[in-house]
Amino acid sequence: MKPTTFRALVITETENKQYLRQIQDKSVDDLPAGDVLVRVHFSSLNYKDALSASGNKGVTRNYPHTPGIDAAGIVAESSDPRFTPGDPVIVTSYDLGMNTAGGFGQYIRVPAGWVVPLPKGLTLREAMGYGTAGFTAGLSVFQLIRHDVLPEHGEVLVSGATGGVGSIAVAILSKLGYAVAAVNGKVDRSDYLNAIGAKRIISIDEATDKSGRPLLKSQWAGSIDAVGGDILATAVKSMNANGVVTTCGNAASPELPVNVYPFILRGVTLVGIDSQNCPMPHRLETWEKLSDEWKIPMPETMVEEIRLEDLDQRIDRMLNRQHKGRSVVNLTN
Ligand SMILES: NC(=O)c1ccc[n+]([C@@H]2O[C@H](COP(=O)([O-])OP(=O)(O)OC[C@H]3O[C@@H](n4cnc5c(N)ncnc54)[C@H](OP(=O)(O)O)[C@@H]3O)[C@@H](O)[C@H]2O)c1
Repeated sequence: MKPTTFRALVITETENKQYLRQIQDKSVDDLPAGDVLVRVHFSSLNYKDALSASGNKGVTRNYPHTPGIDAAGIVAESSDPRFTPGDPVIVTSYDLGMNTAGGFGQYIRVPAGWVVPLPKGLTLREAMGYGTAGFTAGLSVFQLIRHDVLPEHGEVLVSGATGGVGSIAVAILSKLGYAVAAVNGKVDRSDYLNAIGAKRIISIDEATDKSGRPLLKSQWAGSIDAVGGDILATAVKSMNANGVVTTCGNAASPELPVNVYPFILRGVTLVGIDSQNCPMPHRLETWEKLSDEWKIPMPETMVEEIRLEDLDQRIDRMLNRQHKGRSVVNLTN
């Protein structure tokens, strides 16, 4: 039964450009038009949500707004024959949580083309343990495998490893038998990184070349990068011959200070990862892998469950680089 009101985190913009975060009662009738109404059971916190919740107009143009680029729940209504009330589903990417009211509310209404049936091997909570961060990690692992980076070829470097994308990438790669070197965070999180599967811990200083040389000692068979800037450049310059680097984020910087030598003298491949516009067939294939062959344990140290009320503080922690792993938001109550 569809209720008339539900709870949501709403960001409002004040006259002096402050962004207030409040839990409000919203009406289902206020949701945008769409094919599928979903009762959200779980969401999760991603870097993009922290930006949306703090007034980043590159992510969210207009306020008031409910962020949440991730949602997993049960179909409440559907005008599309592919979905029936009662179906468990995942909705991530596209415009969810950016300029469309997102998963930090107990209901969302979205186009049917955004909806992924929950794979059999996952609960709604596990799906949000991955969320966009884990899905992006999955896309990155996919690219390493697609480009023939195999465990026997050598170590794989993961940057931003203490964060959402990085933590899940470390855990999946380790499950698949890769030797993972993980770049530590601002705060020492070696114990955490070892516990989720890293074989070697690299400090941010070690991961950042200061010599400015165009090529560095070959060290890595592959790399999954979530931070960009000098750390990504250092990884590109330190690849083995035919090594593969994926790039998905700019947590440190959007710049990439490299020249062509790693590409023309070592055959390095740099692969861009865009989870938002990933075509549906590859999206379904990746969720299937995450639910089965690549499924990782999600201990509380890596995936912590929080409530809507906790988001305000978690968002600040994420913006201040104090967040670790993944936060799953329980919206069942
Ligand atoms: N392309 C896509 O489809 C896609 C999808 C998902 C995410 N992303 C992007 O990927 C990035 C990571 O997202 P996330 O959800 O994993 O965020 P997150 O949980 O906040 O993790 C960010 C990670 O980056 C590290 N970091 C932050 N600033 C840094 C700096 N100046 N130097 C070195 N390391 C730094 C953090 O380390 P500390 O422990 O030191 O804080 C942490 O490990 C973001 O830029 C996000 O927008 C892109």
